[in-house]
Amino acid sequence: MVLPIVGYGDPVLRKVGEEIEENDPHIKELIKNMWDTMYNANGVGLAAPQVGKSLRLFIVDASTFEEDEPELANFKKVFINPIILEETGKEWPYNEGCLSVPGIREDIDRKPVITIEYYNEKWELLEETYTGMAARIIQHEYDHIEGKLFTDLLPPLKKKLLKPRLDKIVKGDVKIHYRMRFFNRK
Ligand code: NI
Repeated sequence: MVLPIVGYGDPVLRKVGEEIEENDPHIKELIKNMWDTMYNANGVGLAAPQVGKSLRLFIVDASTFEEDEPELANFKKVFINPIILEETGKEWPYNEGCLSVPGIREDIDRKPVITIEYYNEKWELLEETYTGMAARIIQHEYDHIEGKLFTDLLPPLKKKLLKPRLDKIVKGDVKIHYRMRFFNRK
């Protein structure tokens, strides 16, 4: 089932997500709905707060970057209760967007290598290291479960220039091709 994606300005996007209890009976359905919602919006990642659930859960499908990084051909993963253990390397910029912040894309600097511990859908505890686009998407989604958005990482002047457009999103005054829910829609 496609769920409405929560837009910039909703307080749920600012909360630190709660840990999920092992074998929580509702998680399976939530994950399925999140896949439906993400693909419906042509996204490459989606975090639970973006569908109104303040939980430490996100999904990533990086297969669309297969052309540049062939090892991503089958990269489709669920991250439950993740903890980024380490981020290393020299920061690199990439033009990021977010399904909760429609119409805005900005260059964001992030470190290229991450090590993350998480549970997969089968509740197996894994520790893995990622680089390139996989690391980038995971960092973006991880920020969501920490109550952060990519626009927070911009320099102060850029943030100031962006504010009128962000204010429009809070009010739902944006064109979008997928289902969204806005905090302050008139
Ligand atoms: Ni996002």
